[in-house]
Amino acid sequence: MRLTSRRENVSVQRAAQFRGVPGRAVFPLQHCMRALIAFVREGNINLEKYLLFTPGPVNVAANVRMAIAAEDICHRETDFDRLLASIETKLLSLLQIRRPEHYRAVVITGSGTAANEAMLSSVVGEGSILIVSNGEFGERLHKTSVVHNKLTHLIEFPWGQAINLAVIEAYLKKHTIDVIAIAHHETCSGMLNPLAEIGALARKYHAIFIVDGVSSIGAETVDMEANNIAFCSSSSSKAIGSYAGLSFVVGRTTQFEKLKHHRAKTTYLNLATFYDFLKNRSQTPNTPGVPLFFALEQALSNILLEGVSCRFAKIKRKADLLRQGMRKLNLDFLLDEKDMCSMLTTVCLPTTLDVGILRQKLREKSIIIYEGKGCFEGKVFQVGNIGELSNFEIAFFLRTLKEILLTAVSKDNRTVVTIMPPAPGWPPVVDGLDVLAPAVA
Ligand SMILES: Cc1ncc(COP(=O)(O)O)c(C=O)c1O
Repeated sequence: MRLTSRRENVSVQRAAQFRGVPGRAVFPLQHCMRALIAFVREGNINLEKYLLFTPGPVNVAANVRMAIAAEDICHRETDFDRLLASIETKLLSLLQIRRPEHYRAVVITGSGTAANEAMLSSVVGEGSILIVSNGEFGERLHKTSVVHNKLTHLIEFPWGQAINLAVIEAYLKKHTIDVIAIAHHETCSGMLNPLAEIGALARKYHAIFIVDGVSSIGAETVDMEANNIAFCSSSSSKAIGSYAGLSFVVGRTTQFEKLKHHRAKTTYLNLATFYDFLKNRSQTPNTPGVPLFFALEQALSNILLEGVSCRFAKIKRKADLLRQGMRKLNLDFLLDEKDMCSMLTTVCLPTTLDVGILRQKLREKSIIIYEGKGCFEGKVFQVGNIGELSNFEIAFFLRTLKEILLTAVSKDNRTVVTIMPPAPGWPPVVDGLDVLAPAVA
């Protein structure tokens, strides 16, 4: 299988597409058909894009790409008020909030970290906050909180290890904690942390519960009402399927109302100000990245049109397909599947394989994956399955990975991995394509 990348032409073609220059446009449907025909005929895929098998950024849908180039509007006119209101309504629908009249969503021009910093700097006041961490993004919540909140507590579990609820409860019994914060999906390991249980502890010990949902919202259920979540953050560029650059905080209206009583710790990221502008003017306090709002609105419409549960199920099916395929390549995963988020798989790197080489060889086929960070550096790689990745492209990824693993040899010239023999029911057939069929020995 061979992939020809012609990225250098893409910007010219896209510009031509928007200008309507005859004969130069590459429309997504034609593009896919061409790639499919090439794949079926020659085992050759010809794509003019990277395949982003990452936990974000993602390959965006064609209509999201078009939406970003929508008309020029002024953010102080009613056009923008309507756009923001529509995004807010759609965000509350995405979160499947049963009583939306009790919730609001503010949108921030800034990546997911901006929304997290807005929550951490605006919600705690002069009170105390407990950060529960089991990875990189829990640590980041802590680092941010320390800047804003003198009374920041930390319970830290090793990266990739499940949260021990008994430890948290014991801590809450001994200390006065006003706010509890956690990353729902700890992206560094792919672990999904237990919101219902921590939300119940927050309720029992009268703490406000805030959640970093940056890499889970759009892929997993975050039930703010049932799980006692006061505020939850997320970003546009991950499972929601839009461009990076916007983030948002969804919160209970009663909790938003209380924020005005706190001393402001930042000006730009003050949630109380965002809420005030939203409530009273249907606007944002500062100049928003309007084109990104158009794109986010389209990405949210796409999810709602498909149906939120259907979108979640589709992401899970893609994860299952990838996991099945990678297991067949004798690769192990860092976590038990029951602990994993459905948008990302963290794969143990065969000891003799260099992750830099693996990424480079995949990149040569226009496939982008993540490598491990911190204590996982050089030990794992990460494969995401959000955004516009088709089953056909997943099959292409698996076949490419297999070829790399089969040809990669260790320093002592032995094959790095052994591919498991075909088992009954293998290879799975995806949209008429055998995922690994041609290369199975
Ligand atoms: C759980 C989590 N929180 C926060 C962030 C930071 O988001 P951003 O890079 O968009 O600022 C990330 C990014 O991957 C994340 O996965």
